[in-house]
Amino acid sequence: MIEFLKQRFASPSKNAYAVITGAGSGIGRSFALQLAARNGAIVCSDIDLESAKETVALVEQAGGKGYAVTCDVRDAKQVEKLAQQSEKLLGHPVTLIINNAGVGLGGKFDEMSLDDWKWCMDINLWGVIHGCHYFVPGFKKQGHGAIINVASAASFTAAPEMSAYNVTKAGVRALSETLFSELRKDNIRVNVLCPTLVPTNIIKNGRIPGRYSKLADHALMNYAMTTSDDVAKLTLNRLDKGELYTTPQIDAKMFWLMKRASPNLYAKFLGFSYRFVNNKEA
Ligand SMILES: NC(=O)c1ccc[n+]([C@@H]2O[C@H](COP(=O)([O-])OP(=O)(O)OC[C@H]3O[C@@H](n4cnc5c(N)ncnc54)[C@H](O)[C@@H]3O)[C@@H](O)[C@H]2O)c1
Repeated sequence: MIEFLKQRFASPSKNAYAVITGAGSGIGRSFALQLAARNGAIVCSDIDLESAKETVALVEQAGGKGYAVTCDVRDAKQVEKLAQQSEKLLGHPVTLIINNAGVGLGGKFDEMSLDDWKWCMDINLWGVIHGCHYFVPGFKKQGHGAIINVASAASFTAAPEMSAYNVTKAGVRALSETLFSELRKDNIRVNVLCPTLVPTNIIKNGRIPGRYSKLADHALMNYAMTTSDDVAKLTLNRLDKGELYTTPQIDAKMFWLMKRASPNLYAKFLGFSYRFVNNKEA
């Protein structure tokens, strides 16, 4: 009973034994550095091992402990191995998994290939499902644990020309919402991060049509209101408070409220704005 209460009021971001997917860049790297500052030991996994090693070097400079591992989250077997390998590297059962790896995909629905859909679904949605699938059993066994799933404000904004990305992120949000209630009795916390623009390499690493990629990257790098460090810090604080959602920016909060207040009106407004912008460009 005392152990149960201790875990219920604990701060999972402090002294964590954490695993992060897609830790070689952007938000994943920021999570690693924030956890290091909270005395964590972190397995930094990425499909690109060199970038994961760079993150580990930064973690160590910050006084934390880090381990670089290759893992392609599309492959269930690699994520299963990541779970086993992490416990050995950390010398302790994992207490926090951050399912962060993700890619950007844009373009008109009828111009998007099924191969692009599959690529995006495999990384953004299946990657998170794999992470939850292979880490939850260990959390149940030890009687506590924490999950951060990185979705996006796209999970509810449903902006045009982002259909596949929106679908994957809506799936991540639905999964997180379900697990939040289902795993509460097992002392497993869940937080889902839903940001709008954060300056990272997501556009450069993504499949964004040429006509937008420069503009989108410019907007991301110059007009984003929040840094990846701010986003990671806030998410960890919200996880510690036992909250489900992290919507860091004011625009994300406004879209969330508008959509919930009147979903029909919101969709009409989006359609009108999209037509207006396209007519202006034509
Ligand atoms: N940057 C934004 O504006 C923004 C907004 C909302 C949500 N997000 C989400 O944040 C998460 C992190 O993205 P970011 O913005 O830091 O982008 P990023 O491109 O800087 O980092 C993504 C990392 O994921 C890794 N990765 C890609 N495919 C992988 C795979 N198959 N297996 C393992 N790792 C893989 C990349 O190598 C890279 O290191 C993503 O899920 C993204 O959808 C980003």
